[in-house]
Amino acid sequence: MILEVADIRIAPGRQAEFEQAVHHGLQTVIAPSKGFQGYQVRHSIESPERYLLLLEWDTLEDHTVGFRGSAAFAQWRSIVAGFFAQPPFTEHFEAIAARPRNDVVAARTTSAHDGTMDKPIQDFSDCHAAIVSMFDDLTALARPQAPTPQRRDMANRVLDVFQDVVTAHHREEEAELFAAVLADAVPGEEHAKVESFVNRLVAEHRRVEGLYSQLIPALSAMANGDDAALDAAAVEVLVTDYRAHAQFEEESFLPLSQTILGRNSDHMAALGLALHIRHAVNELRHRFGTI
Ligand SMILES: [Fe+2]
Ligand SMILES: [Fe+2]
Repeated sequence: MILEVADIRIAPGRQAEFEQAVHHGLQTVIAPSKGFQGYQVRHSIESPERYLLLLEWDTLEDHTVGFRGSAAFAQWRSIVAGFFAQPPFTEHFEAIAARPRNDVVAARTTSAHDGTMDKPIQDFSDCHAAIVSMFDDLTALARPQAPTPQRRDMANRVLDVFQDVVTAHHREEEAELFAAVLADAVPGEEHAKVESFVNRLVAEHRRVEGLYSQLIPALSAMANGDDAALDAAAVEVLVTDYRAHAQFEEESFLPLSQTILGRNSDHMAALGLALHIRHAVNELRHRFGTI
C-alpha cells in the first residue's frame, strides 16, 4: 500500500465550492478506480487556501499508470483543476510507522465476520444482514426531509458501508466462494447449475453497483450537510434488487455451496482461511493504516 499526498493551493474565497467538488470527484471518479483504498482531505489551519489530499492505493502503479492513464483522470482534473492557484505538488509515501484509530466500518466489518474460519458460508449470510441494515438507512434517506446532523451521519455511513463492506463482499464472493464452488462442483449437471447461478449473481453484483453509483452524487451532497434529494424510485429499485439477490443467495446458492464444499472439509477450511486472511488484512488497514 502506498500513500499519495497531493499538496493543493486553491484560489482565495473558493473553499466551500472546492470542498464540495473534491468530495464529489473522490466519491464518483476516484473511489471506483482499481487499487484505490481510501482517502482523507485535510484543510490547513494556518493557510486557508491550502489542502492536503491523502489517497491510499494498493501500488504506486495503480495511481501513476492505472489511474493517470485512464479517462477517469481527465474527468477528475475537469472537476478540481479550475480551483488550483498553482499546479499541485504530489509525492508518494510508503508506511514506516502508524498509530491505531477507531473506525466504525472496521468494527462493523469485523463483528460481521466473527467465526469466519469455522463457518465460512455463515459468514456470507451474516454479511447480508449488515448490508440490509445499511439499505434501511438508505430507504430512510430517500424520504424527503430537511437536512439534519443525523441525516448527514446516515449518508456518510451509507457511503462508507457501500464502499467498504458491499464491494468487499462482492469481491469475496466472486474471488473466493464462487471460484471454490465452481472448482468442486461435479462435472456435468451440477457444474452447469453452479455456473448458471454464478453468472446470474455476478451480473446482479454489477447491476447493484451500477444502481448505487447513480445515487453517489446526492448521497455525497447529503454527507456534506447540503439539502439534496435522493431519487426515491431509484432507491426502491436498488433495495428491491439487493433483497432479491441476497434472498436467492440465502435460499439457493449458499445451501448448494454448503453441500458441494461440505463434501471436502479441507476445501471448506481453505475457504475459511482465505476469508479470514482477507478480513485480517482489511482490519489491519483500518486500524493501522496511514489514512
Ligand atoms: Fe452476492
Ligand atoms: Fe452475498
